[in-house]
Amino acid sequence: TKLIEAKFVTSAADYRKCPPAEKPEYAFIGRSNVGKSSLINMLVGNKNLAKTSQTPGKTQLINHFEINKKWYLVDLPGYGFAKAPKGERDKWGEMIGDYLVNRENLMCVFVLIDVRHEPQRVDLEFLDFLGEKDVPFYLVFTKADKVGSVKAEQSVESFKKTMLLSWTKIPQYFITSAERRTGREELLKAIEELNLS
Ligand code: GTP
Ligand code: MG
Repeated sequence: TKLIEAKFVTSAADYRKCPPAEKPEYAFIGRSNVGKSSLINMLVGNKNLAKTSQTPGKTQLINHFEINKKWYLVDLPGYGFAKAPKGERDKWGEMIGDYLVNRENLMCVFVLIDVRHEPQRVDLEFLDFLGEKDVPFYLVFTKADKVGSVKAEQSVESFKKTMLLSWTKIPQYFITSAERRTGREELLKAIEELNLS
């Protein structure tokens, strides 16, 4: 597989302070601790690029990484962290909501879902938000190494079924493990295709 050149660019609290919107960009989002930063590191092959932690709430700002000088990967803070004070949660909603709605070069959002869990209300509500705002997204099921492949498929089916209660179609989705590098080629290929579109 091709080598990837990845460079940290900025951490910003506001989409207006992000790098110039001149290259296509892909943002990773999902609940706190779902594995966003780990997945970015897995894609670029550098365990130390995005900061990860066992404790939820590690990523706090909008982090831009420039890839092969041509596009951006964006690591975002997680949502749904029950222990965060309400003021923090409101701030998250404003910062990330503004970014998702206003960032002109945002091609697609990758919404990460922990494959171990039953469909979570907070994830479904977040998808509804993206739908309302017409933000294109793909689904990425994470931590597949923690369950067997049968359980992973069941979990995905269950998520799809729940989603179909309010959606007419299911977006493209990926089953991944940052630990085992599962799904890497598929994700990079999807991004490559969007870069060309
Ligand atoms: P916040 O920035 O706090 O929102 O979290 P995050 O979504 O960026 O999660 P992060 O990448 O920091 O990972 C959280 C924890 O899950 C860390 O302990 C990771 O090592 C672990 N983790 C992430 N991906 C995987 C995976 O694919 N498999 C396993 N087994 N653990 C994973
Ligand atoms: Mg993170």
